[in-house]
Amino acid sequence: MSKLLGKQMKFTISQHLFRILAVLLLSTASFFSQAQDTPKNENIPAFEKLNNGLAKTPPMGWSSWNQFGVEINEKLIIETIDAMVQNGMRDAGYVYVNLDDGWQADKGERQNKPLDYDREKFPKGIKYLADYAHKNGMKLGIYSGPGETTCAGYAGSQGYEKQDADMFASWNIDHLKYDACCSHEKASKVEVQEVFYKMSKPLIENPKDIVLHACHCGWTDIWEWAGDLGANHWRIGQDISDDFDYPKNREGYYFDVLDMLDRGDGLEAYNKPGQWNDFDMLIVGLNGQSKELVGAGASNIEYRTHFSLWAILSTPLLTGTDVRSLDGFTLDTLTNTEIIALNQDSLGIQAKTVKRGGNIHILAKPMSDGSWVVAMLNRGSETELISVRWLNDLGLDWNKASVRDLWKHKDMGIYEEQYQVEVISHQAVVLRLYPTK
Ligand code: GAL
Repeated sequence: MSKLLGKQMKFTISQHLFRILAVLLLSTASFFSQAQDTPKNENIPAFEKLNNGLAKTPPMGWSSWNQFGVEINEKLIIETIDAMVQNGMRDAGYVYVNLDDGWQADKGERQNKPLDYDREKFPKGIKYLADYAHKNGMKLGIYSGPGETTCAGYAGSQGYEKQDADMFASWNIDHLKYDACCSHEKASKVEVQEVFYKMSKPLIENPKDIVLHACHCGWTDIWEWAGDLGANHWRIGQDISDDFDYPKNREGYYFDVLDMLDRGDGLEAYNKPGQWNDFDMLIVGLNGQSKELVGAGASNIEYRTHFSLWAILSTPLLTGTDVRSLDGFTLDTLTNTEIIALNQDSLGIQAKTVKRGGNIHILAKPMSDGSWVVAMLNRGSETELISVRWLNDLGLDWNKASVRDLWKHKDMGIYEEQYQVEVISHQAVVLRLYPTK
């Protein structure tokens, strides 16, 4: 199957509308059935079911793409690992350090050669980096794609899947982002399934545990079947841009934070331990300085809101910024352990929209300890007074709840029936509610 470069395949407005309609239809299922059972899939994969048993909570870590694009090298990766150990990110749960596109030696088609790393960028080789990561209590990820070339034009894995899977394993790799770019828009479900099956199968057959990210733009409703083919996460749309709420999609292709949030609305049923909807890597702290992503950057509050949303959506938390030089606010955002706990909860539930009207958007989900999480998001440009009611909005038969604000790190008291708070533009107040007598 020939591959087209991702960014050439633009998402047309009519396709976008169609998908929004599809998502709205899906969102009619009840919360609990969404949370616990995957709906009946009429399009059962044409291949045997695979499951690697990994990533029981959403993978957390860093990926090179959003900040650096293909400008990556050994020094950057070593310094990134060191920084994450020193600044507390590793201990907060960010253990993956993932090389994205650009580590490979050769551009263009494969020409029967083993995949090789760029020896100028990585003089000691990839296994050296994996060993360095492991020595530091972290993991190393790598990138390839099911085409003759990857999205950035490097040699791809098509036709060499087993050879490459075995080589990644021999390098002690822990995570593979396998990226079909946004090609295959017009391909049949079976064709796309075959693409991921061919890599998933040899990865699973190899004794080394390797988490699989089936990266794709959501074509053929990948969330319906990728988990059954051994993928641990799959992108639900095109690339994120470094914007919180850019008018329309940048270049008709990029999704800002609110676009991505809306894209995933209704996909809750497909999220579960080991199988995650992927809302794309974090843009927190990029501040418009990315070498690769388009976008003007966002404010500290907007980045914090983006982080809160990704956390409660139980999507992978792969930060894309340069962690060697984080300012205090950004580090506090990324290492808020009370927010991270929402993402890493063992139930693995993706928060769903419980109330939406005007600029007010409330998302919520239950946690494994019986508490609930609520994000009160103000999508507009003026401050809003937002209230959440235990019974009417959350369906909770609680008279009183004790309310904790997870950004203030403060117990706000015990409230009967509801809680009300002022939320500034583009902020999300995140609460954890506990039933109380
Ligand atoms: C894109 C993908 C990005 C990045 C890039 C590398 O298709 O969405 O996240 O991996 O390819 O070329």
